[in-house]
Amino acid sequence: MCGIVGYSGHVQAAPILLEGLSRLEYRGYDSAGLAVVGDSGDIDIVKASGRLKALYEKTDDGASMHGVCGIGHTRWATHGEPTETNAHPHCSDDRAVVAVHNGIIENYQELRDKLTRSGYSFYSDTDTEVAVKLIDYYYKKYQMGPVDAMSRFMLRVRGSYALAVLFHDYPGEIYVARKDNPLVIAVREGESFISSDVAPLLKYSREIYFLNSGELGRLTAGTATFYNVDQQEIEKKPVHIDWDADAAEKNGYEHFMIKEIYEQPRAVRDTINTVLKDGDINFGEIGLTDEDIAKFRHIYIVGCGSAYHVGVALQYVFEDIAEVPVRVEMASEFRYRHLLLDPDGLVIVISQSGETADTLAALREAKSLGLKTLGIVNVVGSTIAREVDSVFYTMAGPEIAVATTKAYSAQLAAGYLLAVKFAKVRGVIDDEKFDYYVREIDALPDKIAKALEDKERLQWFASKYANASDMFFIGRGIDYAISMEGSLKMKEISYIHSEAYAAGELKHGTISLIEKGTLVVGILTQPELFEKTGSNMVEVKARGAYLMGVTTYGNYNIEDTANFTVYIPKADEHFTTSIAIVPLQLFAYYVSVTRGLDVDKPRNLAKSVTVE
Ligand code: AGP
Repeated sequence: MCGIVGYSGHVQAAPILLEGLSRLEYRGYDSAGLAVVGDSGDIDIVKASGRLKALYEKTDDGASMHGVCGIGHTRWATHGEPTETNAHPHCSDDRAVVAVHNGIIENYQELRDKLTRSGYSFYSDTDTEVAVKLIDYYYKKYQMGPVDAMSRFMLRVRGSYALAVLFHDYPGEIYVARKDNPLVIAVREGESFISSDVAPLLKYSREIYFLNSGELGRLTAGTATFYNVDQQEIEKKPVHIDWDADAAEKNGYEHFMIKEIYEQPRAVRDTINTVLKDGDINFGEIGLTDEDIAKFRHIYIVGCGSAYHVGVALQYVFEDIAEVPVRVEMASEFRYRHLLLDPDGLVIVISQSGETADTLAALREAKSLGLKTLGIVNVVGSTIAREVDSVFYTMAGPEIAVATTKAYSAQLAAGYLLAVKFAKVRGVIDDEKFDYYVREIDALPDKIAKALEDKERLQWFASKYANASDMFFIGRGIDYAISMEGSLKMKEISYIHSEAYAAGELKHGTISLIEKGTLVVGILTQPELFEKTGSNMVEVKARGAYLMGVTTYGNYNIEDTANFTVYIPKADEHFTTSIAIVPLQLFAYYVSVTRGLDVDKPRNLAKSVTVE
């Protein structure tokens, strides 16, 4: 996810663009850049890697760039490391066309090959440079102007994009196009403004045009004309926005955490789409060959916190589906253990930030022992991503809330795809079973979205338990892994003491803690364990516990035991973590909100623990 801004008017553009980017920095912050149409008509481009501050410094707070029309971009790397070269804006070699882009061009490799055959060369690793040069190709080939070139582009590419484009021959004009990724426009007397979302525009106007997928537009200083992909002009009405700018950064959500909980279907979909193409799982871009996969005799999964919990869930998935022995370790323990690792093992390190000190240290320990390493990482170009042998990037986009949600879900999806690919390559499953698992994984984003619809009931239940002093989350097998994450979410944002427990373990001591009214959350998504966990719930209920059950539609007899039940869509039992975690995230979120706590920045915590 990146941030785009644009301005065409009668004052210097650069300071306006920089201020707009500063309101979008949460959308991406590994590099940034501006393009401004100078007084001569030539387009000046300045880019900087690192946080937006570097661009402020490089342009002397915008003063060094002269011109009243320009575009800007703050990047969240998806293709290509977060370097200055890969930063946006990108341009054709003669700077006839200059653009900024938010999204993913899925067929960029095919298009890059096509353009190379037509004589184009490339200076960056980005899909955006391919997009710009494709527009340039159509612009020069058909000589029909910017709208024609952009609409041909839209008909040719696959993927998602919000684009803002400058054409040297059309000074003072900005052309925009959208598919899936947001782009909004404001127009007032003599000035036009563009942004990836509403926040930066509200100081100029509350009348906002929302570009729809498949639409494009031409902006000049104070005018906006919109077209459909057939280049027919269309009428658009602005929407009046009442939000304040802070609310707008969260797209109207109260906190980043709830926004990111609701972004999970897209985060999982985008992660799946990086390797699942035409029904096959292709790790070509990850650099994990079938030969590699065939020879691993053991898998070690290492991470911290929620990333560790992903590993606990994936252990069951890998061992069940791919029949590979898996050991899961907390990174902070792994690195101090006398490691007796199989030299033909694979170490998978999981990390959203790619900077967690314990996980990085564990990775370096594994590499020093000569094992192959694979990272499941969200931040492109992060330290862990650069030090592993292969990296499977999750496509969750920037995760701002300290408590992870969408990155956790995207990590699970990456792990499922790895397990199923391992099973196929190693001959553990046949084509039919492979296709079944692929269909089940591909169906997860919609099922996560369905689980999100239960928000109101969880909000109500959370208000009843906001003053609890203790909570227990229990389950068996994968349900135990789910209970770990549910418990951590509750602890870290509501400050209520909570424990995740293997349901079968309760009677070996912990059940002594159960008192009248103690909340016990039972996770029951594993068919063959349903009865067992159900009887553990009866045991704690007999001792006064109040029971919440999380189970799949159809298991209605749980209501004979549970006082409050949340039902989730059915899925293959290996993948239910991705769906069952949603009500637990929502429950923890609403308890924290009811307690009036700082949900996005809980006390004592940091988004990335770069200290040991
Ligand atoms: C999760 O909600 C926590 N914020 C924390 O446990 C986190 O998962 C852990 O610190 C690992 O972070 P990483 O994924 O960036 O390595």
